[in-house]
Amino acid sequence: MKWSFVLCGMLWVGMMFAEMVEVNGIRFAYEVVSNEVIFTMEAPTTGWVAVGWGATARMKDADYLMGYVTNGNVGVVEDHFGVSVTGHRRDTELGGVDNFRLIEASESNGRTRLVIARLLNTKDTYDVVLALDKPIDIILAYGRFDNTSSKHVSIGKTKMILKRK
Ligand code: HEM
Repeated sequence: MKWSFVLCGMLWVGMMFAEMVEVNGIRFAYEVVSNEVIFTMEAPTTGWVAVGWGATARMKDADYLMGYVTNGNVGVVEDHFGVSVTGHRRDTELGGVDNFRLIEASESNGRTRLVIARLLNTKDTYDVVLALDKPIDIILAYGRFDNTSSKHVSIGKTKMILKRK
């Protein structure tokens, strides 16, 4: 019990250093730690949640982080790339690699929450570099199913500025 208080306190203090936005019910937080960005995504769904950056037209050319949670706390994370204005495929199917590191996953009360790390520059052809200190357009979405081929039920657009603390 005591430890859970300590853990909650640490998570809360950690969130104080992260930037957070909320768009159409999707909460999105990001924090630069060394040469990685730690993303936290939370949405009112038991299906997938995603963020994308680098889109040149609608969904095209964006680098996508998509994830979902099964059995309450088993997280699945996939690295995708926007191959057309309304389509994306896994980097691994295109000849690239998965470049996300799952840190935490939970699903409760109809909400999915994922904490995931990514290098600022993965040097993968199917990833877009995360630049520091300038606004980056991002797209957010969530779907109803634990299946990243199923379409979104909600989307959003915003910007993030990644800064080293
Ligand atoms: C299998 C998954 C997906 C499918 C089938 C899909 C399909 C589509 C389609 C058909 C549209 C055109 C508008 C509409 O019919 O609603 C669209 C728009 C859009 N999608 Fe997706 N999408 C998928 C995943 C994603 C993901 C992962 C994101 C973001 C993280 C995303 C963000 C958007 C945005 C922001 C738009 C609006 C673009 C604009 O009009 O500027 N989509 N999507």
